[in-house]
Amino acid sequence: PATAAVIPAAGRGVRLGPGTPKALRSLSGTPMLIHAVRAMAASRAVSLVVVVAPADGVDEVKSLLDDHLASAGGTELLVVPGGDTRQESVRAGIEALPPGVGTVLVHDAARPLVPVDTVDAVVEALRAGAPAVVPALPLADTVKEVEPGAPGAAEPVVATPVRSRLRAVQTPQGFDRAVLQRAHAAVALSGEGATDDAGMVEQLGHPVVVVPGHEEAFKVTRPLDLVLAEAVLARRRV
Ligand code: C5P
Repeated sequence: PATAAVIPAAGRGVRLGPGTPKALRSLSGTPMLIHAVRAMAASRAVSLVVVVAPADGVDEVKSLLDDHLASAGGTELLVVPGGDTRQESVRAGIEALPPGVGTVLVHDAARPLVPVDTVDAVVEALRAGAPAVVPALPLADTVKEVEPGAPGAAEPVVATPVRSRLRAVQTPQGFDRAVLQRAHAAVALSGEGATDDAGMVEQLGHPVVVVPGHEEAFKVTRPLDLVLAEAVLARRRV
């Protein structure tokens, strides 16, 4: 069965500062979303990329793809409108998948520089039989759980998880299609949110495995991340 990539790109990117939706901002002259689509299309396993655009930006995204991706190496491209939350946007992408797709990668447009080896490692683990796979890295910082208080106020520490057992999760996250669809249906019913798709699969009781992520798969969230992303691209060019 075929592998498709769903790219949620409908976020406003508020933490990055005012301006166009985050996925459409440019990194060394090319919109972040285009980098992300290329990263997925670079994997030989991926035969379809579904881009989930801001609801009022579907036509803009379609013409961006036409302008920048005259050829996506034979990879088929689809654009669908997204929702108010990442979860709704991913769901819109899943609903657009054609029948022949058996495995799905969900990849944030905000992680434009993920290397193809990381994408392929996720696909390999799916092929080896895992129903859900996430790339992740050990943490540099120690993490504290706190009792959240008012912004800026001192917050009491509740717990300090053992750092060596923690992993920071990236994308693309890979799934058996039926498992991902069930997870999205179940979480929509329960009304609870989830910060990633694998978390929803865990809630259903399915096993999720971690494969090594990559430093360059970081999420562009804050202004400093743009500086880092430009530096990574400059280093790739030499
Ligand atoms: O906001 P955050 O960085 O967690 O967003 C992760 C990804 O989810 C981004 O690629 C963003 O465009 C996407 N997203 C979306 N629809 C939303 C919110 C976020 O597709 N409503």
